[in-house]
Amino acid sequence: MEAWIGLMSGTSMDGIDAVLVSFNHSAVKIHASHTIPYPDQIRHRLIAASQNQAEPDEIGELDTLVGHLFAQAADAVIQRSEFDRAKIRGIGSHGQTIRHQPSGTAPFSIQIGNPCVLSEATNITTVADFRRRDMAAGGQGAPLVPAFHKAFFSSDEENRCILNLGGIANITWLPASDEIPATGFDTGPANALMDAWCLDQTGLPFDSDGHWAMEGSINQELLDDMLSDAYFSKAPPKSTGKERFNLDWVKTLVSRHRDIPAEDIQRTLLELTVKSVVQQLPEISDLRIYVCGGGARNPLLMEAFAKALPGVSLSLTTELGLDPQLVEPVAFAWLAKQALEGKPGNLPDVTGAAGPRILGAIYPA
Ligand SMILES: Nc1ncnc2c1ncn2[C@@H]1O[C@H](COP(=O)(O)OP(=O)(O)O)[C@@H](O)[C@H]1O
Ligand SMILES: [Mg+2]
Repeated sequence: MEAWIGLMSGTSMDGIDAVLVSFNHSAVKIHASHTIPYPDQIRHRLIAASQNQAEPDEIGELDTLVGHLFAQAADAVIQRSEFDRAKIRGIGSHGQTIRHQPSGTAPFSIQIGNPCVLSEATNITTVADFRRRDMAAGGQGAPLVPAFHKAFFSSDEENRCILNLGGIANITWLPASDEIPATGFDTGPANALMDAWCLDQTGLPFDSDGHWAMEGSINQELLDDMLSDAYFSKAPPKSTGKERFNLDWVKTLVSRHRDIPAEDIQRTLLELTVKSVVQQLPEISDLRIYVCGGGARNPLLMEAFAKALPGVSLSLTTELGLDPQLVEPVAFAWLAKQALEGKPGNLPDVTGAAGPRILGAIYPA
């Protein structure tokens, strides 16, 4: 059996999720998984770089340092699985996004984590730089996971929606009918704003289990004001990031309102995630939603989704056979397989690209 490694770190910049996996038609077999949290210092430097506070020297150093951390994550899953290294066909490395600007006259997306360091350290062929070919073809370069969702999570009996709650939230709509194309887009913030506000007010990187938000209540005026951001009503294709939804965004909106307690703001940000997703879901009566990403671990967030979607079936991707924390890294292992087999990795209906494209650059072992 051949296997693939997937390496992913998203906008939350919490750490590197690694997986060693085999694919058999529509089945996924996980051999091992591991997460390497970013050391605090690296995380702070990455956050600064993503806020345009880094010179080329700093970005170059981070590129190499993050490349070594990604290589460590790859080694860790190989060791945990005791899988024969020679049977590992490739690594798909998303890298760490430090900037994503899909619109304007010169759109770009920058992922760091030098893939040359990865192939040198592991002696395994590495595929990286997945987003830019789609962008060169006029697409958003994001989200890229829907093609994987379509290949592994589609059903001809159920209208499914995959909801990924990372720093940013994205949905993939998988109609039961073959005649309706699968679509998907970033709906806006999931954890990014909650994390940013929590760090600013408490010094903690995230609100564990939503305990802090639980102490607050929703401020409806602030919520309505937040929901009036033009991104939420923009038609897809669309993708976004912390370039737009960041601490400044929160502070600007909060400054328009008087004396709101910090915990009420946290609770309102949680509700913003819920409402912005719900209002962008397809209007289908028998929709089944499957959740993945770090947000699935926040019981208050899951409870708020259930409350906002009465009568809608809401469960985790575990029901589809895949741990919610592994969906994204497995998707990048699969995208590496697609690239090395010369098959496309994007869905033009999702990204808006001119057509299907083979994604990624190959760094031989
Ligand atoms: N126990 C938890 N309680 C609340 N939030 C959590 C918990 N575990 C993870 N998270 C949230 O999930 C985020 C990480 O999710 P992840 O899917 O890795 O996002 P990304 O793809 O952006 O890296 C954390 O930053 C945090 O906000
Ligand atoms: Mg993460």
